[in-house]
Amino acid sequence: MSSLARACNYKVLVPYEPPSWIGPALLPQVPSHRVTLARTNTPIHEWKLATTPAPFSLAIKRDDMTGSTLSGNKVRKLEFLLADAKKKQCTAVITCGGLQSNHCRATAIAARELGMDSYLFLRSPTNDPNSIKFDGNLLLDRMVGAKIFLVPLKASQARDLQPRMDRLTRELKDRCHVTAYPIPIGGSNLVGFWGYVEAFRELLNQGVPDDYTDLVFACGSGGTASGLSVANQLTGNRLGVHAVAVCDDKNYFYGHVNETLRGLGLLNEYKAEDILDVIDGYKGRGYGLSTDEELDFVSSVSKTTGILLDPTYTGKAAFGMINEMRLRPERFRGKKVLFIHTGGVFGLFDGRQIFPKDRHGIKTWFDLDNIPEID
Ligand SMILES: Cc1ncc(COP(=O)(O)O)c(C=O)c1O
Repeated sequence: MSSLARACNYKVLVPYEPPSWIGPALLPQVPSHRVTLARTNTPIHEWKLATTPAPFSLAIKRDDMTGSTLSGNKVRKLEFLLADAKKKQCTAVITCGGLQSNHCRATAIAARELGMDSYLFLRSPTNDPNSIKFDGNLLLDRMVGAKIFLVPLKASQARDLQPRMDRLTRELKDRCHVTAYPIPIGGSNLVGFWGYVEAFRELLNQGVPDDYTDLVFACGSGGTASGLSVANQLTGNRLGVHAVAVCDDKNYFYGHVNETLRGLGLLNEYKAEDILDVIDGYKGRGYGLSTDEELDFVSSVSKTTGILLDPTYTGKAAFGMINEMRLRPERFRGKKVLFIHTGGVFGLFDGRQIFPKDRHGIKTWFDLDNIPEID
């Protein structure tokens, strides 16, 4: 380990000290180590989104700034998952997601930075590798040498993906003498859970329960929701915690969080339905698919506030949040809302976010007498 790496603790396996509010009952669950991958504390600032209905006020926590190519909410979970992989002497990781999965991209980059190979099972609309366009997250997966297997869009995690991930783990062991560490979709298990417990410690250090009434964020596999809602309970339930579902539905996510509570031995004390508000109704055309209204929202947010949302997660979550503030303001605990930007910017590069030719406003230098308006 170089003295420089040790000095900044970056990418180094270090013993993990949980927050003081993790009681004795939970201590057996606490990971022994973590690697520091995320750039923290991520900033919190006012977000002047013109469509925010009065009397709500809005601020944003920039977990899109946990890093550059290695950024977003997944980096926080990977600090614990990859520490576990390292401790178990694994030299490769296996995980799965969509073709433009932020989780897979972050896993592949972090694994490579830590000297591990990555194997990704990616759900794809085509099973013809030659027709795949390497853009957005997929380009970054390739740049760090991830080995990719395409799987059908409808492949179920339990029935189709898990057995294949298990088989690859065995094959790597038997044929290549490689010990691989399997990571479930979104990194949302009892190890990744600690990433958003730690994020909650950061929110406390930043004074969030004193300054805000509610947290809102995108929910894709439920890990961010589990970490934040459980930590909020363990620290006195001072905030409303709202997870906007961008896939599946609230029953699925309450089920996931209850499983986490069961795994932690907390199910007798808490129920997901009581500690978390899953906001349904904003997955639109489905996971990874967008409506024109959603895409217009994403581009109007960037044009008016400079904040780049992504079409799959944060765009839908912010769109849902603003709508719920208008339609069902009573579901929020108060009026001071903190939106957690969970990253995903590379999803913007998949070609979906197009500007119609008549509205893109681009001229040539011969048109200086006709200055384009900013729309
Ligand atoms: C940018 C972004 N935001 C939010 C989420 C959802 O987080 P979670 O899987 O913890 O529910 C994801 C998951 O992939 C993501 O990539």
